[in-house]
Amino acid sequence: MSCFCRIFKLLDTAPEVLSPATPRRVDGPGRIEFENVWFAYNRVQARKRDANGHPAEVAPEPPTEPDWVLRNVSFTIEPGETVAIVGHTGAGKTTIISLLLRFYDIQRGAIRIDDVDIRDMDVAEVRRRFGVVLQDPFLFSGTIADNIRLGSEWVTKEMLEQAAEDVNIGEFIRSLPGGFDEAVRERGSTLSTGQKQLISFARALAHQPKILILDEATSSVDTDTELRVREALTRMVEGRTSIIIAHRLSTVQRADKIIVFTCTRLPVRAAS
Ligand SMILES: Nc1ncnc2c1ncn2[C@@H]1O[C@H](COP(=O)(O)OP(=O)(O)OP(=O)(O)O)[C@@H](O)[C@H]1O
Ligand SMILES: [Mg+2]
Repeated sequence: MSCFCRIFKLLDTAPEVLSPATPRRVDGPGRIEFENVWFAYNRVQARKRDANGHPAEVAPEPPTEPDWVLRNVSFTIEPGETVAIVGHTGAGKTTIISLLLRFYDIQRGAIRIDDVDIRDMDVAEVRRRFGVVLQDPFLFSGTIADNIRLGSEWVTKEMLEQAAEDVNIGEFIRSLPGGFDEAVRERGSTLSTGQKQLISFARALAHQPKILILDEATSSVDTDTELRVREALTRMVEGRTSIIIAHRLSTVQRADKIIVFTCTRLPVRAAS
């Protein structure tokens, strides 16, 4: 299986969620709202389709108590706002992202984008709005351009070069013998951590997402790269709604809003 196939296969494997028969379209500025959200992984129901393509019967709830990861969580993220999510390990930060991308459905409450419940939207449409940068950038064997484009034919050469420029990695890429066509070997093992981070930034930016989600890397990079990463981040969050699971104090300091997660699984508190 090629890497592209594997990535798309991964995105396709979410039997828990279904698109509605007549999805609602959203074309607003990207306001996000969590309203009284409750979520427990041990209450996630697999909703497969039957042979006719209709949603199959949902199994009855198991007798065990729900193990709530999120209890009555409410917050809003206004268009253009940069929000830092901080908190202890296991507190539910990544879960928030998985719910926003609708990898799972919540048990109570609502998650809305521009006032539309994400369960009323087409699943692919929901996910298309987000550019996601994972903590550990995933590079595959192919060219650097392939790695930035990620199979999206509509991302032109100019767009991906501009994205690389905007995150301060253009000069480095152009210095390679093959430039943007240079092969990435063994999942980027010949590139430094900082270079891989910046390439994954360029990937997100090239797709011009309305909403940026970034799980900030914890691995340390040298001072010069650190500066580049910070500058790149500043440019990426400009003019778009951004959610950053923050590990750097500098990121937290520059956020418009900080959402603090406690490890005791208590409600989320948002502070401006
Ligand atoms: N797929 C899953 N199935 C069951 N439980 C899960 C799953 N993913 C996470 N959990 C549990 O949900 C809780 C919240 O996990 P989550 O990954 O959201 O934490 P986090 O705040 O992102 O932590 P970290 O800072 O370590 O990344 C944890 O108790 C975790 O064990
Ligand atoms: Mg996490």
